[in-house]
Amino acid sequence: MKKTLFIILIVLGLIQFIRPTLNVSTVVSSNDINRRYPVPDSVLKLLKRSCYDCHSNNTVYPWYDRVQPVAWWLQYHVNHGKRGLNFSEFLTYTPKRKVHKLQSISDLIKSDDMPLSSYLWIHTYAKLNDGDKSLITHWADSLREVIAPDTLAQAGK
Ligand code: HEC
Repeated sequence: MKKTLFIILIVLGLIQFIRPTLNVSTVVSSNDINRRYPVPDSVLKLLKRSCYDCHSNNTVYPWYDRVQPVAWWLQYHVNHGKRGLNFSEFLTYTPKRKVHKLQSISDLIKSDDMPLSSYLWIHTYAKLNDGDKSLITHWADSLREVIAPDTLAQAGK
């Protein structure tokens, strides 16, 4: 029994040396959403706090996110999350994709599917209250209205 515990501790110790590459970038991407569609400060603050770890080129890593196996778990979600939506690359999306992603943002927040509940266990500060949710969904819905005429114009061509 003591031996098993010892082995587990050794393994936990060793995996600390196998680190995933961090998702951090020192420059603001030229394709960042904020470059063309300035996000109101109140909304940006919430997105940074609750979404940007998995949906931008900049994850903020508190010490517990650097400890294995948590770091691997997070890395996996960052890779998948960025593929689904990346605010740092938002301007590279076609108008149709932009509109679709904004719609998803609203839907997923209303249904409490984002941020991921497993993420909220540890990152309790990222939980959105009703006021936060309506700020983000209103912003996403109104930006969709701004971009949508483009989409319609393009579809008509
Ligand atoms: C812990 C990481 C994590 C956090 C934090 C997070 N997401 Fe996600 N998100 C994901 C992952 C992983 C996916 C891809 C899921 C899939 O494709 O099944 C995703 C997918 C999405 C998508 C794309 C869905 C689609 O229809 O294409 C949207 C939109 C989204 N998230 C919005 C948000 C918003 C808004 C927040 C903040 C309120 C947020 N997410 C916070 C991990 C995260």
